[in-house]
Amino acid sequence: MTMTEIKIELTTNKKDKPDINNLGFGRFFTDHMFVVDYTEGKGWHEPRIIPYQPISLDPASKVFHYAQTVFEGLKAYLTVDNKVLLFRPESNFKRLNASNERLCIPVIDEELALEALKQLVEVDREWIPNAPGTSLYIRPFIIATEPCLGVASSQNFQFIIILSPVGSYYKEGIKPVKILVEQQYVRAVAGGTGEAKTGGNYASSLKGQELANKDGYSQTLWLDGREKQYIEEVGSMNIFFKINGTVVTPALNGSILHGITRDSMIQLLKAKNIPVEERQISIHDITEAYHNGTLEEAFGTGTAAVISPIGELKWLDERIIINNGEIGEVTQMLYDTLTGIQNGSIPDQFNWTIKL
Ligand code: COI
Repeated sequence: MTMTEIKIELTTNKKDKPDINNLGFGRFFTDHMFVVDYTEGKGWHEPRIIPYQPISLDPASKVFHYAQTVFEGLKAYLTVDNKVLLFRPESNFKRLNASNERLCIPVIDEELALEALKQLVEVDREWIPNAPGTSLYIRPFIIATEPCLGVASSQNFQFIIILSPVGSYYKEGIKPVKILVEQQYVRAVAGGTGEAKTGGNYASSLKGQELANKDGYSQTLWLDGREKQYIEEVGSMNIFFKINGTVVTPALNGSILHGITRDSMIQLLKAKNIPVEERQISIHDITEAYHNGTLEEAFGTGTAAVISPIGELKWLDERIIINNGEIGEVTQMLYDTLTGIQNGSIPDQFNWTIKL
């Protein structure tokens, strides 16, 4: 797959654009998509940008039966002077390859994937929304397409990138969300696929999320799969707490996603001289901090969710109200700084953004 080989077939039937003030998350898709095939012995071949369309797969394709698939999520932003910025795309393709490795999927050429992404975003540039809090969400994913029911790695794959203009992930926007700490089910265990970005992790999280939603909570906070006492991550975000002036987040332990927004927040906090620690955190540490009055803030981070303040955690029968259910000072500062860097209104001292 080389850049010069990317064929472009433009649509002759452009879609109507959605209402920019009512985008929601992941419901609208642009006019084009990127596709490249993998065949055993031939490697990745025929990279192309084509009109957005359904894909036709044999019902026996391994992805449907054994979930051999990985995905990524990143965003493009429009700056006030109408330039396009991609946020840390190289980190996403690096993580995609780490997930590929775990799921026995052939690695992609990260540089060339980035070039394909740039060309695709350029083709659909007019779809990047410019209202505050909106962006173009980019979803690269790989699926196993070999039609065979034997449990073994697929011989064929497709790598696809689709684009979706989005607003905020949670209906609450930047208002604090309420999260239920899951007691019964687990999302992942170290040694499993928890740190890979693969569909199965999200499928296994749906039951907990359904229960949380029924109880009036937006998402589930997952504890570790072995002892069910150490904090791991929320359904679609990594998690941070501010306790007695120090920001803490669970250390990466093999079952937690290596969040790119998580990493960005750690770097940002260090640059602002705010103490930050990656360490094992038990749910008892959180209830104790709540009871002794040192639990000051909590927030989740993710590409889709950006930074989402957490106003309440429910653990067993106790409702832990954080910062009176209001967004905290550090959370607000991180949100403003991150979104400012992403949309080009704050200088990017970290070299995270790439201008198209
Ligand atoms: C993201 O934040 O990009 C995610 O992949 C989370 C979720 C929408 C699955």
